[in-house]
Amino acid sequence: MGEACTIAVAARSLREQMEIGLRRLGRPVAVITCWDGERRWAKTATAVTELSMDPPSLLVCIDRQAGVHGPITRGANFCVNILHADQHAISEQCGGAERGEGRFREGRWDSAACGTPYLRGCEASFVCEYATHMDHGTHTIVVGTVTEVQIGTDEIDPLIYVDGHYAHPAADALTAEGQ
Ligand SMILES: Cc1cc2nc3c(=O)[nH]c(=O)nc-3n(C[C@H](O)[C@H](O)[C@H](O)COP(=O)(O)O)c2cc1C
Repeated sequence: MGEACTIAVAARSLREQMEIGLRRLGRPVAVITCWDGERRWAKTATAVTELSMDPPSLLVCIDRQAGVHGPITRGANFCVNILHADQHAISEQCGGAERGEGRFREGRWDSAACGTPYLRGCEASFVCEYATHMDHGTHTIVVGTVTEVQIGTDEIDPLIYVDGHYAHPAADALTAEGQ
């Protein structure tokens, strides 16, 4: 079965093969926010990774065409908000369904001392100072030094994006237990 699948995929272009492969990479969904001194920005992203504990750092991969790309690569502080399972509407809103301030319509948003917006009631928010960035192809890897962490929920139940859909692992685990 695995072999047949390998042959079917190999018949496609490398880009298509990569897209098919990446559908199997389930990732927590985050919203990256920033404040550029004049306006707030928000954007959904799954390409978010912990980088170092000393100094505490995260990295995010941002499309060079995205609105937040300019402010963040010019050095704006930013925040990585890890969404809770019931926040898929916020993922959609910040993933392109809304623009400008419309991206802050759903959800309870607050501001850190530096002005960076963060989302209340999400799994966790990591406020970061811009550290450095590196362009590669269509995207830019941005490294931020974490200066503040907010934990927004008692239970751990993150929103996961896999195979083009939102998944709810905690609910799925409960269903499996009840079987
Ligand atoms: C579930 C999901 C995950 C996404 N992950 C990323 C990502 O990791 N990096 C990225 O640059 N865009 C990602 N996007 C796309 C951006 O959120 C979208 O292109 C962006 O909000 C457009 O913003 P703009 O109109 O301000 O440029 C993702 C969208 C969704 C719905």
